[in-house]
Amino acid sequence: MCSILQDKKIILGVSGGIAAYKSVELLRLIVKEEARVRVVMTRAATAFVGPMTFETLSGGPVLTDLFEENGASEIRHISWAEEADAVVIAPATANIIAKLTHGIADDPLTTLLLAVQTPVLICPSMNVRMYQNPITQENLKRLQLFGFHVLQPESGPMACGDNGPGRLPEPQTIVEHLRRVISPKDLEGESLLITAGPTQEPMDPVRFLSNPSSGKMGFALAKAACRRGAKVVLISGPTPLDSPSGVKVIRVRTAKEMEEAVLQYFDSASIIIKAAAVSDYRPVEVSGQKMKKGSENLVVELCRTPDILKRVGEIKEGRVLVGFAAETENVVENAETKLKEKNLDLIVANDVTRPDSGFGADTNRVTLIFRDGRGESFPLMSKEAIADLILDKVMEIKTLGFRQD
Ligand code: PMT
Repeated sequence: MCSILQDKKIILGVSGGIAAYKSVELLRLIVKEEARVRVVMTRAATAFVGPMTFETLSGGPVLTDLFEENGASEIRHISWAEEADAVVIAPATANIIAKLTHGIADDPLTTLLLAVQTPVLICPSMNVRMYQNPITQENLKRLQLFGFHVLQPESGPMACGDNGPGRLPEPQTIVEHLRRVISPKDLEGESLLITAGPTQEPMDPVRFLSNPSSGKMGFALAKAACRRGAKVVLISGPTPLDSPSGVKVIRVRTAKEMEEAVLQYFDSASIIIKAAAVSDYRPVEVSGQKMKKGSENLVVELCRTPDILKRVGEIKEGRVLVGFAAETENVVENAETKLKEKNLDLIVANDVTRPDSGFGADTNRVTLIFRDGRGESFPLMSKEAIADLILDKVMEIKTLGFRQD
């Protein structure tokens, strides 16, 4: 798996809040992405979690004091700041936020933060009244004006018994924002329209025609595009996946509803990617009541649903249009036919007979086929990595302009 965080030098700053225990899991997740992580803790943070835990997980020394080891760390906080690709402070207490806003540098973390020139993601976590205090709010606004990234805390019950905003988001959410902060913003100015998931075509109130699409491929594309600076509208069929933050998600059920939503957002899109597994047929009759068991055999008449991608191909004008082909045989040949019939710039062909690819899996194995006839096959990769790969190719198409309209 190739992650955007791989080989990146990340500083994890931990200040003294009850949520410090979550930064242990955060460190584990960042290390799992093969980033090189260094940890800096305030003295108060060490009262919540021992530096040894972070030392063990990061595989390196933890900076806790400006003047330890005969002043060696005084130099270390500067060299770490110089080398860092990004800094994440989680949890960031009201105190560390206030000190940073006013340029106070009296511990290893605030000193490093003043010296660092790479992106810094601040994850505030504190009591709800401390968070809502106008002083804290003003400080956070000023930090954003200075160019710091601030991840809004979550709302809910707190360790102190209060309820409201101030909870540190889950480590996975922080990692996703860290990826966003560190990513090149090469899709800035682009508007992506992405479809994901299955459609459901009802027969009666409790039965429908569908397929096993989980939505993972389309959601991975939406997250990657958003992280790379694009405006993203994601139109999804039924899936339990959470809406990615920063993405406008429209939930639909049937092919007809998906078509209406796609056409509604079509005008503002510069790039359209259709990863949804749209049902090709729907029952002609939809019973208003649950159908009763009758004779041994039941014949259900089906009719075609709208071919959304084909329709978009007819009206796309200068937009880059990417389709997917879910195939069980003659994968490349069938995908090439769809590319031509639907007027696509790129088609992503996947063999959906393999358990590690296609529907439901976290991984996929794809062949990309371009309008100019080129084809490129890739080994098994995570759907996240494939999403970035597809977006790289889309940007190549946009900049090299080899589409033949
Ligand atoms: O969601 P996951 O579990 O992560 O699985 C991912 C996936 C297997 C669903 C995805 O990788 C994929 O292959 N999506 C396309 C599935 C599909 O419907 O393929 P198709 O070959 O039947 O359709 C070709 C293209 O036409 C697709 O882009 C499809 O969105 C589009 N289409 C199809 C029928 C229709 N009525 N309208 C359409 O727009």
